[in-house]
Formats: sequence, structure tokens, C-alpha cells
Amino acid sequence: MERLEGQVAIVTGASRGIGRAVAKELADYGASVVVNYNQSPDAAASLVDEITGGGSKAIAVQANVGEPAEVNSLVEKTIEEFEKIDILINNAGVNRDRTIRRMSPEEWQEVINTDLNSAFYCTNAVIPHMIERSYGRIINMSSIIGQMGNVGQSNYAAAKAGLVAFTKSAAQEFARYNITVNAMCPGFIETEMVLALSDEVKEALLAKIPLGRFGRPDEVATFCRYLVTEGDWITGQQLNPNGGMYMY
Ligand SMILES: NC(=O)c1ccc[n+]([C@@H]2O[C@H](COP(=O)([O-])OP(=O)(O)OC[C@H]3O[C@@H](n4cnc5c(N)ncnc54)[C@H](OP(=O)(O)O)[C@@H]3O)[C@@H](O)[C@H]2O)c1
Repeated sequence: MERLEGQVAIVTGASRGIGRAVAKELADYGASVVVNYNQSPDAAASLVDEITGGGSKAIAVQANVGEPAEVNSLVEKTIEEFEKIDILINNAGVNRDRTIRRMSPEEWQEVINTDLNSAFYCTNAVIPHMIERSYGRIINMSSIIGQMGNVGQSNYAAAKAGLVAFTKSAAQEFARYNITVNAMCPGFIETEMVLALSDEVKEALLAKIPLGRFGRPDEVATFCRYLVTEGDWITGQQLNPNGGMYMY
């Protein structure tokens, strides 16, 4: 359980849901973790308490990852506290679901900015620190929706598909520095994002999942941790914890 001792991870959007589970899993394996959050300071603070109580190091840092200046400050605070960055999990995301006919430009732009532009801002700010040490593990949290599309989620699907293309380009740019970049494309996971759906929609979704249930945040977290600890020869890939809903 100490495979990541001495390593430093930034997890964006770690106050809740999947990001929270990933931050906890990396900390359980010994990593020092920067718990980034935007609007949930109490949730981020409680995760920091949980992690430090378990013997690993953690700090909470507020930053809207859709704002380049705030991302730069997030990275500066990480370096001040921990002196290096080994792992970046670009996880923060929102959805603003609406059919294309009814979607406003603001709803389109907010999702593209938070779910896609943020990955560029964070990678761009972190990469010099990884190159300097010839080591890095980057995971971009895409989604099954980026592979399949979905009614009412054109903004989210475009952002998540864009993340996969970004992942493949970054993987090619950074492989020479021993930096791997992969995309995680979860199916429907039991977080607030999914639990907020109506019972009718949830029933319809469950009927499309061969393994018959939604996934859990800890299952995505285990897969992310595996990529970091065991994935030295895996880069540019999309990994699909989705209960068989989409067989890529
Ligand atoms: N749940 C699913 O079924 C599912 C499936 C596939 C992919 N995903 C992806 O997995 C990621 C996490 O999803 P989730 O279900 O865990 O979502 P969630 O429960 O709604 O949590 C979202 C997290 O992102 C953070 N966040 C949102 N906007 C941010 C911003 N501008 N700057 C920094 N942090 C921000 C939130 O922080 P604050 O609360 O502090 O604002 C929160 O910690 C997302 O990228 C999502 O698209 C989810």
C-alpha cells in the first residue's frame, strides 16, 4: 500500500464523487495529494482530514480549473508545499444538459471550458515540472458519453470526446519524457451527477448495462491507481470501466 510514497498528485474536482475517491485511493497508496475544489470547501477539508488521519499528506486548494490564472496558482501552491508534481488527474467536470435546439451559448461554453479547456490549462501548467524530472502520469476523466453521444448532452459529449483526442496528442508529445497520458471513460457511476437523474431515466439506463448496475467511484479510483502504479507501458489509451454498456 506504499507504492506511491514520495509521489505528489494533483486531483482536480476532488471534493466530491469520483475525484474524491481517486484522491483517497492515491493517498491510501502513500501519495501526497492536492485536493482541488471549486465551491465545496467543507467537503474538501473533510477529505484532507480523512487523508491526514490515515497518515498521508494532503492540502486543499480552491481553484476554478476553467480559469488559467487560478490553475497557475494551484500549481504554484503545490510546488511551494510539495516541491514537485508526479501525477495529475484532470477530473473536474460539470454538465448542463439541454437539447441543441434549446441550449444557450453560455451552457455550451461553460461545459467546454470546465470539462475540456481545463485539461489543457492544467497540463500546460504542470508539464514543465514533470519534464524537469522525466516522470509523469496524467489521467483525463472523459466519459462513455464522449464515445456514444447522448440526447441533451452535446456540449458534454463534445468536451469528453475532445479530451480523448487531447489525450492522444499529449501522449505522443510527452512519451519521450517518460510521461504517460491516458483517458478514463467511465460509464454511469453512482455520484451526485447520476443520482440526480429521475427514477425513470435511471431504470432506462440500467436496462442498457449488461452487468446490471451503476459503477461505484471506488471502482474508477482503483483503475486510476492501477494505471499510475502498474501502467508504465500504457499511454494514449482510453480505458472503459462501464459495466459493458459500450464495448469499444
Ligand atoms: N458520475 C458519472 O457517471 C460519470 C461518468 C463518466 C465521467 N464522469 C466524469 O467524472 C468527473 C467527476 O464526475 P462526478 O460524477 O464525480 O461529479 P460530481 O460528483 O458532480 O463532482 C464534480 C467535482 O468537480 C468539481 N468541479 C466542478 N467544476 C469545477 C471547477 N470549475 N473547478 C474545479 N473543480 C470543479 C466539483 O467541485 P466543487 O463541488 O468544489 O465545486 C466536484 O468536486 C467529471 O469530469 C465527469 O464528467 C462522471
